[in-house]
Amino acid sequence: MDRKKITVTKLLQMKKKGKKIVMLTAYDYIMSKLFNESSVDIILVGDSVGNTVLGYDNTIPVTLEDIIHHTAAVARGNQYSLVVADMPFMTYKISPEQALQNAGRLIQEGHAEAVKMEGGKEIENIIRKVVDAGIPVMGHIGFTPQSIHKFGGYKVQGKDEKTQKYLIESAKAIENAGAFSLVLELVPSEIAKEITNSINIPTIGIGAGPYCDGQVLVIYDMLGMVRGFKPKFLKTYANLGDEIVKAINTYADEVRKEIFPDKDHYY
Ligand code: KIV
Repeated sequence: MDRKKITVTKLLQMKKKGKKIVMLTAYDYIMSKLFNESSVDIILVGDSVGNTVLGYDNTIPVTLEDIIHHTAAVARGNQYSLVVADMPFMTYKISPEQALQNAGRLIQEGHAEAVKMEGGKEIENIIRKVVDAGIPVMGHIGFTPQSIHKFGGYKVQGKDEKTQKYLIESAKAIENAGAFSLVLELVPSEIAKEITNSINIPTIGIGAGPYCDGQVLVIYDMLGMVRGFKPKFLKTYANLGDEIVKAINTYADEVRKEIFPDKDHYY
């Protein structure tokens, strides 16, 4: 397959041409290498590394050092996708200068090619500062997991007129600030459609319906590795959790019965 590296410019062209954008999260080198054999446009090193790999209850404890560490591993394995690093809780909302300094570290030390920030029109000046310094920014509105305590849980946003207005105004402000794309999380599909049609940068949905310019899922969720997590928006494309348990149990059984190692597996 003749594959070209995905860039921010290419993503904007994809929206214009109506070509859907495929985004998935990844947190390590092995997964990133496998992505080279598939066709993922954007790899997000999400702060969902907290709930998945690191075993936290939510994304709040994730640090900038965590994201730098995981982004660098993903970047080492990546050939074709655009690598976007999430800016963790409290690493960008204190001031535009703080955001720029930390975004710079994600690019310089983590080898990310862009950063993602959660928040609406209230962070317009923060996004602008980072973009003006030459760092591409992806926005993220709707349900923003770093604000879980404000929302009081995983709740669909934009169900009433006031929050719909806020989301639409925020999308425009984020585009105005120079962001190259926008994640819409847990937003009614009709609101996602209105936002997608009202801005020129691509929208990437998660639990936001079919009208977004692209879709994103958390890799371990879509591979069926997270026990007991089955929100309505999630489709699982494999049952790797079951496969892994089966493989480990077969290995354990063979070791105990002295079937492994057999003559093909020693020197
Ligand atoms: O951290 C993450 O994985 C995300 C996606 C759900 C968009 O922000």
